Amino acid sequence: MTTPAPETLAKLTPVLTKRWLSPDAWRIDTYEKLDGYAALRKAVKAHPDDLIQLVKDSGLRGRGGAGFPTGLKWGFIPQGDGKPHYLVVNADEGEPGTCKDLPLMTHDPHSLVEGVIIASYAIRANRAYIYIRGEAVHAARRLRNAVNEAYAKGYLGRDILGSGFDLDLVVHSGAGAYICGEETALLDSLEGFRGQPRLRPPFPATHGLYASPTVVNNVGTIASVPYIVLGGADWWKSMGTEKSSGPMIYSLSGRIANPGQYECGLGITLRELIELAGGMQPGHNLKFWTPGGSSTPLLTAEHLDVPLDFEGVAGAGSILGTTATQIFSDQDCPVYATYRWLEFYHHESCGKCTPCREGNYWMVRVYRRILAGQGTQEDLDTLLDTCDNILGRSFCGLGDGATSPVTSSLKYFKQDYLDYIEGRTAPKLSDKQLVGA
Ligand code: NAI
Ligand code: SF4
Repeated sequence: MTTPAPETLAKLTPVLTKRWLSPDAWRIDTYEKLDGYAALRKAVKAHPDDLIQLVKDSGLRGRGGAGFPTGLKWGFIPQGDGKPHYLVVNADEGEPGTCKDLPLMTHDPHSLVEGVIIASYAIRANRAYIYIRGEAVHAARRLRNAVNEAYAKGYLGRDILGSGFDLDLVVHSGAGAYICGEETALLDSLEGFRGQPRLRPPFPATHGLYASPTVVNNVGTIASVPYIVLGGADWWKSMGTEKSSGPMIYSLSGRIANPGQYECGLGITLRELIELAGGMQPGHNLKFWTPGGSSTPLLTAEHLDVPLDFEGVAGAGSILGTTATQIFSDQDCPVYATYRWLEFYHHESCGKCTPCREGNYWMVRVYRRILAGQGTQEDLDTLLDTCDNILGRSFCGLGDGATSPVTSSLKYFKQDYLDYIEGRTAPKLSDKQLVGA
């Protein structure tokens, strides 16, 4: 394990993660001692429009993966329309490798609850939901406890802090379908229907929950809001880059000495993150990695110095996504890793549209053939052709995302595929595993 240089250590910017080291921060009394609910007290004295402007000025962009400007999204909510407005927090974190929202909700649930109250006040919503992934039982328990504590202290319910503003907050557990992290499938699921994506536009901003104006934001986005209210837009912008402002929680996993969550200004590089994580595991050299989960095209050791912000990663031909950085070494196989991800997409495809439902089914079968030593050169063309027919032709992002590891691994690691096809690499799957996709 290597020790990070002082200048690299200085790149850590614990903002959203700063309370994680206080073991009791999930209890309201401790949270309040650590500045908790001070931002709410300040926010309810401001005009809601000023809060929207503050978030716009901060440059905060969505932390769920797409990076859409948060203040702009809040500003889309029509005012004076006579309809109820809703805030829905997407806590259905399910992208393979992504682990930033779960620890936040477990260690510091009140920061999310406080962010929900401020955001709801800003968009004039009197009802909010946190849609949490079904498997996240412990985090959901912590959140429900936090919501009950907030009601008991008068931060939720009627006439919050004497402001005249009312808000009810419901924590809703999903049933473990990855597709319910897609915002419109999430809304269907919340309404009690089978979770399948809706056609966009119209976007949830105008036609969301129960066909009413709805803001859907990720956990990290909403939990950032109290800090922006307290610290101001300029302070927030002092971290990160010009177009990708603020700190970001990078979740690092794989062949590094200390996997975990590292919060740094957007724009840090993988080289620096690996250094912060104590270096690669002994005997391992970086071969490939995902900048933001398996739906983002793979990058390689050539990309160690790419700034991990929305623009920098796009410039390298990938997407920042959820900043789930999965690190693989020369002892890992990109063909096998891609196959495992495809198994996931095939399993999680909701089946609504043909390109994703059928395409992933067939690609899994082709991968099995290659990994069983029975592939042909033609299979590689079939894979690329199938991706062509999925990308841009699927109903939602799940289909597009599934093609990312396939096309990028073929771009950078075609030789690894050929090694299976031409018999230089021993088969990883047996004949028995060829069928049953
Ligand atoms: P998107 O870019 O289509 O939309 C982003 C947000 O902006 C949405 O809330 C959408 O409603 C809003 N929006 C966009 N254009 C709008 C307009 N003209 N008017 C009003 N609102 C508008 O991205 P999408 O499909 O919502 O999310 C894709 C991202 O999700 C990917 O980048 C991927 O990284 C990420 N993802 C995250 C996962 C996780 O576990 N956190 C899982 C899977 C994917
Ligand atoms: Fe369902 Fe896949 Fe089509 Fe999305 S792309 S609607 S997950 S079948």
